[in-house]
Amino acid sequence: MLCNENKEFTREFLKKVVDICIDFKLQEEVNTKCFDVNERYKIIHDIPIEGSDIESVLEDFKKNVLTYCTNFASKNFMGFPDSGNSIAAMGGAIFAELLQQNLINQSFCGPTATFTEIAVIKWLREIVGYKTSKINSIWDVGGIITPGGTASNSIAMMLARENHVKGTMERGITSPEKFKIVVPKGIGHYSIKSSQMWLGCGNNIIEVPINNFKMDLSALKEILKENKDDIMSVIVYVGDSRTMTIDNLEEVYYITKEVKEDIWLHADACHGFSLGLSDKLKHKIKGIENYDSISTDPHKVLCCPYVISTLLVKEPQKVKTIASLSDLIMQEEFAFGQITPFLGSRNWSSLKLWFLINNLGKKGLGEIIEKRHHLALYLYSKLSEMEEFIVLNDVGINSVMFMYGNKNDDIDYLNSFNRKIYKRILSEGKYHLHQFSIADSNGIINKNKIVYPLRYMCGNFNTTEKDIDNLVKYVKSVALSIKTRGGEFYECAM
Ligand SMILES: Cc1ncc(COP(=O)(O)O)c(C=O)c1O
Repeated sequence: MLCNENKEFTREFLKKVVDICIDFKLQEEVNTKCFDVNERYKIIHDIPIEGSDIESVLEDFKKNVLTYCTNFASKNFMGFPDSGNSIAAMGGAIFAELLQQNLINQSFCGPTATFTEIAVIKWLREIVGYKTSKINSIWDVGGIITPGGTASNSIAMMLARENHVKGTMERGITSPEKFKIVVPKGIGHYSIKSSQMWLGCGNNIIEVPINNFKMDLSALKEILKENKDDIMSVIVYVGDSRTMTIDNLEEVYYITKEVKEDIWLHADACHGFSLGLSDKLKHKIKGIENYDSISTDPHKVLCCPYVISTLLVKEPQKVKTIASLSDLIMQEEFAFGQITPFLGSRNWSSLKLWFLINNLGKKGLGEIIEKRHHLALYLYSKLSEMEEFIVLNDVGINSVMFMYGNKNDDIDYLNSFNRKIYKRILSEGKYHLHQFSIADSNGIINKNKIVYPLRYMCGNFNTTEKDIDNLVKYVKSVALSIKTRGGEFYECAM
């Protein structure tokens, strides 16, 4: 344990840890070795009865764990939105781990940490266009730091539930079917449906048909009219998880309000809030400031190490409806524990964002967001001009969904072929692209039929147009190495 006698040893050890992390993040490969799950019992072994010295633990970790880790920071990691590469944010993350502040209370657990957290929430409110006011207590803050978008969305649904039937926290739910949530069909994030169930409201989702990955507005209107008294919330995506399409924020808002004033409107802007940092792109999220709550995920889009998400609430006082009262949380003006459902002791995860925003400012961050958007547009136009690729979505933020093949090919053949390509990319570890199933909402291949595209999405500042050119060449070479014989796929050397 740390004490004055081992001060120098501790410094050296932690320096070694940081050096290993930096070398890991700067390696070119996404994976240097592919982990075979049959080997998992090398890691899940019996509890050690006798401990080992710290150097041996480190060597074991390097050999059996680290070698197989996925490097999100590689410039070839182009399937997920972020790399966690900000030096300032990494510094903030290390401080948060080592300084041992606890954000449940202010006075003795986090005397200044509480206020850096409040500052971060205030800045996020400004980015999305929410009003900010003087902060005289926790009830004026208008935001809650959570461990991820799933938690932020869940707390938003809790607010929606209390808004719909006041006092549900106290009395519970008697008729779950009266707590419906409206979402766009086939593109939503599972956290909304799951949180509806976690919160005791049952599986009462209503899905609105989509066009071009956005809600069909006339279908939305009909659904709202038919179910108006039983709807607790309408959800829009400001960048859905797969295509990064931004819904018609203003239209959905006005249609909903026209049918019923007090339906809770929630914007899942885990990805898209970042556009508010750019003067060139912020027009894309116009209208978001009208929504009752907004989920934001800096760990997805602001170069921050995992985890950090924030639920923003338009009217800060609304969090009173879901507050916790206990003498184990200090009943003091600035104790976050009172407004953070599901969580008690909480680490200083917002500190990395505090470091990042102070370091780059709104302007510097805005430039990063613009560069990401530009790279996605670059890939989009490159693939659109190549006859061997099919592009399935328009670029809203930074996602390009594409398939190798011809749009007149049989859809089952295209799907099998692209799934094979994905598997090969994953096993080689040089690049990372994502894959999932989604309905072809634009009708590029076959309207509303399920397709399995490859999905580019990149948030690494080091990735360049040249890297994108290399990615395209690489995908082509993988595709050309996969042949079919008698309807079966087989692979040749590349
Ligand atoms: C649109 C959207 N909302 C919510 C989430 C959940 O976020 P997290 O993984 O941080 O819980 C995701 C994650 O991919 C997402 O894409």
